[in-house]
Order: sequence, then C-alpha cells, then structure tokens
Amino acid sequence: MNKPRTITQIIEPEYVIEGAGVRLRRSIAPRVSNTYDPFLLFDHFAFNDPVEGPIRGFPMHPHRGIETVTYMLEGSVNHRDSLGNSGLIGPGDVQWMTSGRGILHEEMPRRGPDGKIYGFQLWVNLPARLKMIQPRYQEVKESSIPTLKKDGASIRVVAGSYFGQTGPVTDIAASPVYMDVSLDPDVKFSLPIPASHTSLAYVFEGEAVFAGDPPANEGVTVASVRMVRLGDGDEIQVRTENHSVRFMLFSGEPFGEPIVPFGPFVMNSREEIEQALADLRNGTFVTS
Ligand code: FE2
Repeated sequence: MNKPRTITQIIEPEYVIEGAGVRLRRSIAPRVSNTYDPFLLFDHFAFNDPVEGPIRGFPMHPHRGIETVTYMLEGSVNHRDSLGNSGLIGPGDVQWMTSGRGILHEEMPRRGPDGKIYGFQLWVNLPARLKMIQPRYQEVKESSIPTLKKDGASIRVVAGSYFGQTGPVTDIAASPVYMDVSLDPDVKFSLPIPASHTSLAYVFEGEAVFAGDPPANEGVTVASVRMVRLGDGDEIQVRTENHSVRFMLFSGEPFGEPIVPFGPFVMNSREEIEQALADLRNGTFVTS
C-alpha cells in the first residue's frame, strides 16, 4: 500500500517588492538552509485591477546556477536575453530556463485583453556539476501541454507523468513533477511520487483536503492562497469536499549539496559567488 505524504508545513506567502517595483506573493526564497531542495523560490504575481497603474517589470538582470520556470495563466511576459533570444510567454505557456553559467535577461509583464496579469515563477536548483553549463530554454506553448480530464479532475502536465501522459519539459536535473491541477467538488486525486522527492503544492484557488496521518487520516484542509510542504511518503493524495480547488504541484529530487544564494545567483560556495560578481564586472559573465 502506498504511504500518503502528509502536510509538514503550511506557508502563508509574504508580499515582497522585486524588479522595478513589482509586488509579488513569495512563498519560499533561497536560503543557505536549502530547506526545499531542489526548489529555491516561488513567486506569484497578479495584477488583477487595471487601475493599479503602469505595469512594472524585471529589467535586465543576471542569473547563474539555477533554472527559472515561468508559467502564465493570464496576460503575458515579454522576454529578452543577452544571447539574442526573445519571445512572448502567453497565457498557458511555460518557459523553463536553465541559466547554467549565465544569462542576462529582461522579463516584462503585459496585461491580457481583460486587463489582468497572473502567473508564477519557480526557481529550481542545478547540481554543482551542471551550474556552469551553457544556458538552455524549453519553451512550451499552451497547445503542447497535455491536459488530462478525468472524473472531475483536470490536470495540465508540464513535467512528469500522470496516467501515462508525460509533460513536454524533459531532461531536467531535478527529475521534476510540475503540474497544474484543478479538481471539482467531491473529487479525489492521487499521484505516485518517488519517496526521495521533495514535494510542494501551491493552492491558489478554492480549497482541498491533503492526506492526514494514519490511523485517523482525516486530512488537513488548506484554503487558498497557501504553499504546503508534503512529508515522507510515496503518494500525493488530495481530495475536495464542497469546494473546487486549483493548485500547482511541484516535486523533485534533492541534490543534497550546500548552497550559497546571492540575489539571482545560487552557487555552491562563496568563491563561486565572488567569481560570478567578478565575471559581471569584467564582462565575462555571458559567453556565447
Ligand atoms: Fe529573471
């Protein structure tokens, strides 16, 4: 019998200001403690009121040693980098960017036709052996992300597999699961997950009950907007009662390496951070 992963932590996102004054809801941030290894950061950006004023974005900034995963639900992000890549991340699209040794990029949100912007960015770590690889993008359009509809559940599979359907993002060091899960009321969802993984769920609409500890196994109700960390086990079990729910599910293989975060860089040692800063100063940060 599978052992359900029960909730070990419920995180209330904090409001932070990033970029050129963008207000975000941040659930986790890079720390030396590396608590959510291989995951480093999760930001939720939403501008749902057109009178909020001009949209500020994220002007040119560097990254090294990580992957940034941008997923838009409404509106879009105009992206441009130092290697000459550019494009629009539209509603339902995912950009999985492996910064490797370094990129400089600009991420500028735009409102959709109804004036809204809604999206997420997850940072995933790279292991020491891959931190200095050449940058790489996996850009996935909305239409090429499989959506499984089954018994009141609708699951968009970006990475990992669900009922034989594998997501389009592959060859990622953390062997991640990345899914957008919607459940109608009174629906059960379960997903086998390797016991070695770190698993997180970000509940952003409605509410759901996550597995509780046996023998009572009554579960824990989590209402939006919350990040939950799921503990040891080999299956994720979520059910809805009177409400629907929508949550992002992230799971990945920890690397078990020390990390030194410094702004947009996450390396393994202080010396590597110094090197990144020196490369930026010397104009040797980006190599084509
Ligand atoms: Fe960035």
